[in-house]
Amino acid sequence: MMRLAVFCSGYGSNFQAIIDAVRKKKLRADIALMVCDNPKAFALKRAHRHEIPTFLISPKLFKTREDYEKMITRVLKLEKVDVVVLAGFMRILTPSFIRAFRNRILNIHPSWLPHFKGAHAIRDAWQARVKETGVTVHIVTKDVDAGPILAQKRVLISNRDTLESLEKKIHTIEHELYPEAIQKYILSFPRKREST
Ligand code: GRF
Repeated sequence: MMRLAVFCSGYGSNFQAIIDAVRKKKLRADIALMVCDNPKAFALKRAHRHEIPTFLISPKLFKTREDYEKMITRVLKLEKVDVVVLAGFMRILTPSFIRAFRNRILNIHPSWLPHFKGAHAIRDAWQARVKETGVTVHIVTKDVDAGPILAQKRVLISNRDTLESLEKKIHTIEHELYPEAIQKYILSFPRKREST
């Protein structure tokens, strides 16, 4: 089975959705480990609760971003990780890390890309008063929030919505879309599937 490393910095609700999908066998993969850059992340508790190994590593201990990511890469190789799944990981990866896992890093973004790139996509869509936004799952390339799109779902913004209700709607869609998109993506690797 494909081995996933899920990267989180915070609450980890998408991580939870992935854990649940794996447990229900809707997502046919193993979560090899969860990589985290923030000791306060609630995502760590989720990992512990489900006995998923964690690799908590602070970027502050390294001189450069490259050194930090080299350490992570080493662990990913040791753990034979096939696919990196970003789930609220609040760091931009360097081109060398992206090259090391070329076409094997996925991300979920809370907007209908290419609209509202960046770290405040939900708020930005809300403030722009658009009538619809969405959720996008894409492959990570060196251009932030711009890699090939794997899956997208629309989210309508009604007159009755508040920023909070919009956030809720988007997260609900994320939790459905991400495990589905990862599963579809995994099926595009026939050789690995046959060998398990
Ligand atoms: C999600 O909205 C995701 O789209 C974005 O970061 C947020 C992470 O939330 N990349 P959570 O940590 O999964 O709850």
